Parts: sequence; structure tokens; C-alpha cells
Amino acid sequence: MQKITRKITVPLFRDMAAQGQKLTMLTAYDYLWAGVMDEAGVDSILVGDSLAMVVQGRSTTLPVTLDQMIYHGEMVARAVRRALVIVDMPFMSYQVSPKQAVRSAGRIMKETGADAVKLEGGAIQSETIRAIGRAEIPVMAHVGMRPQAVRQLGGMGKVQRDEQQLLNDARAAEDAGAFAIVLELVPQDIAARITAALSIPTIGIGAGVGCSGQVLVGPDMLGLNPDFQPKFLKQFADLRNQATNAVQSYIQEVRNGSFPDAQHSHS
Ligand code: KIV
Repeated sequence: MQKITRKITVPLFRDMAAQGQKLTMLTAYDYLWAGVMDEAGVDSILVGDSLAMVVQGRSTTLPVTLDQMIYHGEMVARAVRRALVIVDMPFMSYQVSPKQAVRSAGRIMKETGADAVKLEGGAIQSETIRAIGRAEIPVMAHVGMRPQAVRQLGGMGKVQRDEQQLLNDARAAEDAGAFAIVLELVPQDIAARITAALSIPTIGIGAGVGCSGQVLVGPDMLGLNPDFQPKFLKQFADLRNQATNAVQSYIQEVRNGSFPDAQHSHS
């Protein structure tokens, strides 16, 4: 597979999937981590409204505001050279009307420098996806477990198993002009069939290997959030322990006088 070194745009993202390349996506919320992920070669960075949990310490994504998404989106977009940058539209920034959605998406694009926006929903948001597309703003949809619908779904971690409904939602999003779809917490065989039925890429989280690509929440896959251990999450590092050990070494060395030593002091 040819390594893409140039900036990944929405058309290139779709082409990569069409050529059979598995797409990689991670979430990031600030300049430092977005830079690490971009340099490591991830294809796309999502500024997810999951920042409610991993940055703000909240229990749902509902309180996140459009201004907060823009604040984080701008820092991420400024760090990124290659990856496709997508910013989540937060709860109640698009549900009121397609007009409201175009205004919110427009602010995200103008004020962050991101490449695209993402919203939750398939069939129920098809008018909105169309309206944002008419403003020439690329939109990613999000089908399956939708965290912004937590109150209606009755919980955050529920696997969505209604294949007909999931397929209808995915098809409606594609027909409305979405360039890709996140499938969250969908059984792997259903996700594979949905992926085969669509001509746009699917990006899975807890949806198995049959998707066109995968997304994970950055701090979760880095092991910074050890209390969150859903079945689908693989921790690729143990940064919480490494950071704890580093801080404890610092405390010890300051207390016993071994830091700062001559090497780290001006004469
Ligand atoms: O907000 C988020 O991080 C997301 C991903 C989990 C897909 O929507």
C-alpha cells in the first residue's frame, strides 16, 4: 500500500477507502496530542464531543457547547499537517433546524480551519445533512449508539442491534450526501453488511473489523483513562501509570535534594 504523505482531503479520504486501505482515526482535543497523532501518521483526527468526558470530566456529552468545540477544534487544526480534521457538532447546535445547523457548521469551518463536521443521526438528520452539504461543508454522520441520544436510548454503552433501522439510517445519510459514517456499538456482522451496502466509508468504534476504518478515543487507547474499559477498547499504551511514576519520581527527587542536579542548574 502506498503511503500518503500529502494532506488528506475529503475526496482523498474516500479514495483511500475505495482502494481498500483501512482508514485510521483517533480523537484529539489539543495542539500537543493532535501533533503527536498527526506525526505518527493517523489518517484523520476527530475533535469529538467526547471531550465532555475525557477533558471536562462530565458523565455525558450533552453539556458541551459550540464555543467549546470551536476552542478545541482550532487548537487541533493548527497542529495538523496531514490528517483530515473533523469537528463534532455538539448537542443542540443542529437539532433545531437545518438553518441552525448550517450556521453552526459554518462557524466551525470558519473559526477552526477544520476539514469537515460530524453530527449524530441518519434518517432523522437527512434534511440537515443535505442543507450543510448545500453550503459546501463536508459532513460525516454517526449511526448506532449515539451519545447525544443517551436519555432516549437509556444508557451510553448499549449495543444497537436493529439491522433494518441501522441500514436505513446509514443509507439515508449516504443519500443525503454524508461523505462517511461512524458506526458506534454495532454487532460486527451487521456493520460488515452495512459497509458492503454503502459506497461511502464506514468508521467503526465497537463495530468490528468489517468497517472501512476504525476510530478510538485518543486518551482511552493511550491508557490515560484506566477506569473506562469497554469490551471494544484496546489500550495500546499505559500512559497513566508512566505519568504517575514520572510525577512520583519528581516529587521524591525534589524532596531528597537530588533534583535539580548540576546538569540541570545554571552556573
Ligand atoms: O465524540 C467522539 O469522540 C466520537 C467518537 C467516539 C466517534 O463521536
